[in-house]
Amino acid sequence: MPDSHDSKSPSGDRRLPPLPGDGSVLVTGGTGSTGRLLLRWLLEETGVRRVIAFSRDEQKHHELLQEAEFQHPALHSMVGDIRDSNRLREAMEGISLVLHTAAMKHVPIAEANPSEAYLTNVKGTVNLIRAARDAGVARVVAHSTDKAVEPECTYGATKLMMEKLLIEANQQSGEEGTQFDILRHGNLIGSRGSVIPIFMAQKSCGLLRLTAPEMTRFWITGDELVSAVHRVLIDGHGGEIFVPKLPACRLDTLAEAIAPEADIEVIGARPGEKTHEALTSPAEAPRIREFERYLVITPGLPGSKIRSDGDRVSSGFTLKSNCTRLLTCEEMRELLSSGSGALGD
Ligand SMILES: NC(=O)c1ccc[n+]([C@@H]2O[C@H](COP(=O)([O-])OP(=O)(O)OC[C@H]3O[C@@H](n4cnc5c(N)ncnc54)[C@H](OP(=O)(O)O)[C@@H]3O)[C@@H](O)[C@H]2O)c1
Repeated sequence: MPDSHDSKSPSGDRRLPPLPGDGSVLVTGGTGSTGRLLLRWLLEETGVRRVIAFSRDEQKHHELLQEAEFQHPALHSMVGDIRDSNRLREAMEGISLVLHTAAMKHVPIAEANPSEAYLTNVKGTVNLIRAARDAGVARVVAHSTDKAVEPECTYGATKLMMEKLLIEANQQSGEEGTQFDILRHGNLIGSRGSVIPIFMAQKSCGLLRLTAPEMTRFWITGDELVSAVHRVLIDGHGGEIFVPKLPACRLDTLAEAIAPEADIEVIGARPGEKTHEALTSPAEAPRIREFERYLVITPGLPGSKIRSDGDRVSSGFTLKSNCTRLLTCEEMRELLSSGSGALGD
């Protein structure tokens, strides 16, 4: 497997590639778990001159701006909703790069409020594409999820739509227009509202409430996530989905890693939850190029330019969380300590 396209190590050079304009960056969902990681990277490692954190809740902006590391002259906070196309257009003025993380992401909440999930994750993406094009933004990189692969939940279905909208938008852009790429990944260690902070909180009561012990999930640390975004920026050809080859772990292993002394109550999967996730589907296999640490799913639209580097994968290939490298309890503990440090929110 070729590795010439693999990203630098986390401590390596993660500066932005040359971008037209003054290199200003807009991070939608800039006050969220992923958004904060991206802001920290942009401010600490790239020398960016202007970065805008865009999201709705003023309290999250207030809290962000209270933190010393975010009291940076390049950082601007902007209250706005991606459902509001006029506000998005204002946010995109003079922007070279958009990192799109804003989303509704909780499976049960999206399941109970599909029309709201549609408005944010689908309609918000349509607004984002139009605003980026009209503002002459050079690059857009959007965050997707394993739940978009053969989706069984509303959240996954809306993120699949987001992917398809961006891939088609890239096709429409041609050589000169905005380039749209996607990073599809598994669970970010320690992200807000995820199972890890929930287990951490339950640990103090001595009882962990576990959906299903055999359930498996992919994991990515904050530092790996930043490197993956950087890789898309360096290597993305447009209309592509980058998929890091992530390890996974069983939920009972995660519970053991966090609270070995705690009792376990099995509560069963919630509506829309799968036992195992997949980062790629068999239908995508013919379009996948494999590199040492990641896969690239090339666009499937007629007339798309397809990259020729990387290895092909076998017919029917799928990257599933129960068939990949499963982390041991010790490995999960190590990942938790490195991952939560990188996230730091
Ligand atoms: N966390 C994971 O494990 C994971 C895994 C795979 C993919 N992803 C994807 O990664 C992205 C970020 O996830 P995350 O965990 O960082 O989420 P998060 O912590 O919940 O942050 C989401 C951010 O988006 C903002 N937002 C939500 N709705 C918005 C709207 N309508 N307009 C503007 N801003 C809005 C939120 O702030 P306000 O609510 O104040 O607006 C917040 O800043 C999502 O696209 C998600 O699908 C996450």
